[in-house]
Amino acid sequence: MLTNETQAEEQLLTDVTLGAWRPQPLPTPSSGRGRTHGTSRNEPFDRWFRYPAGFASDYVTTLLAHLELDSESLVLDPFAGSAVTGTAARQAGHSFFGVEAHPLIAELARLKLQSQPRATDKTLGEVARTLAVAAAQQSSSAERRIDQEPDLVTRCFSTPVLGQLVALRDLIRAGAGESWNLHAKWALLGTLRDVASARVGWPYQRPGTERKPIHSNPLARFVQRAEWMEQDIREAAESPNHLSYQVIQGDSCGKVAWKNLSPESAQGCVSSPPYLNNFDYADATRLELYFWGDISSWAEMCTEVRSDMLTATTQQSSVPAARIATARLEEYGEIADSVLDITSKLLAERNKRPRGKEYDRVLPDYFLAIAQVLENMATALKPGSPVVWLVGDSAPYGVYVDTPRLIGDIAQGLGFSFEKDITLRKRGQRWQSNSVRHDVQLSERLILFRKS
Ligand SMILES: C[S@@+](CC[C@H](N)C(=O)[O-])C[C@H]1O[C@@H](n2cnc3c(N)ncnc32)[C@H](O)[C@@H]1O
Repeated sequence: MLTNETQAEEQLLTDVTLGAWRPQPLPTPSSGRGRTHGTSRNEPFDRWFRYPAGFASDYVTTLLAHLELDSESLVLDPFAGSAVTGTAARQAGHSFFGVEAHPLIAELARLKLQSQPRATDKTLGEVARTLAVAAAQQSSSAERRIDQEPDLVTRCFSTPVLGQLVALRDLIRAGAGESWNLHAKWALLGTLRDVASARVGWPYQRPGTERKPIHSNPLARFVQRAEWMEQDIREAAESPNHLSYQVIQGDSCGKVAWKNLSPESAQGCVSSPPYLNNFDYADATRLELYFWGDISSWAEMCTEVRSDMLTATTQQSSVPAARIATARLEEYGEIADSVLDITSKLLAERNKRPRGKEYDRVLPDYFLAIAQVLENMATALKPGSPVVWLVGDSAPYGVYVDTPRLIGDIAQGLGFSFEKDITLRKRGQRWQSNSVRHDVQLSERLILFRKS
């Protein structure tokens, strides 16, 4: 429920027009980036799994419409996440090319964009019901094995619930290679937080704090999720064969992922990069990664999940990487001075504290990565193509980092013309923990630029 103040503020912000682009006001998005965080719980495809970093799909749909792309354009998202831009682009009759570094989330994105589950004589709902019946029969024996599960997993569920989840997981794993397998896997992963009896709200899991599960019956919820998937797939617009929907798992700062795209073949971009120190996307999905057995330690999280992600948090930073990035930023002109200036202020703040955090090491790496992504996009986009990015600013130790403006400056240096910087909403002060308290008002902004 929105407060009056929030409603008034949102009305004001949504009344801002896109100026030269479009005269109509932007509607308020239902959920996700642009409103709060997390993909919608209700919208088709978004509801498959609530990714904390996800866009509001109605918002992406609106933005795509505002871009006035020719029909059947190719839309880019270098930070594709759970493919909210991808599914919105498909629905609007466009092709899509995305890059996503998180392997599990890239799998989800590809699954959503796969037009249909491969031919099978059973519907997804029927498959899920068969699996649920078998899991019910096997759950007692699964319960006896739950002490083999990672500590995080055992602490998040009651024993009977975990027995059913483990039984389902083992049945789905045994069906690897079946046409329905990945859908069943994601119906199960989407069920985990619904039936947890510990605080597993985004972005971080708190297994030590109990809560009442949102849904009490994991098997019924699993079947319901599979039925949603089936319904969404059935109702998705029939896509012409010549359109393509691609998500590459990898690093959009490097060149490799972009080899799958011809130069100047894309006509627009709607994206949202990681915000500086907003949160750690790998860690935010720890419950799913541990439960499925993708990783079993923090070290594996770093090598298996995080390795392609750009540096946006102090946990990812290092002295050598910051040094190299500082030198390489020089290639991008004056922006290097702006970043260096903020870095010095952050270092001074760190030195005032006994165990200060290394925000000064994050910045050069972060902005170098952003510059590399923009450079790759400049090659991939046709001249005249519009780009919309949703991004927040930040203020570690109270040192203001105007990320949207700095991104705009980098883009201009790379041959984009900068058109608009619109404040969408004020946002929470994530830096306002004990050691990094500040009172700088932060916001989420929409920046619009165009390939010259
Ligand atoms: C703000 S989220 C975007 C979410 C997306 N808009 C959605 O609706 O799900 C940023 C995404 O960028 C991904 N990411 C981080 N570094 C990356 C990189 N170097 N290359 C590609 N993706 C990256 C993160 O894993 C995260 O999913």
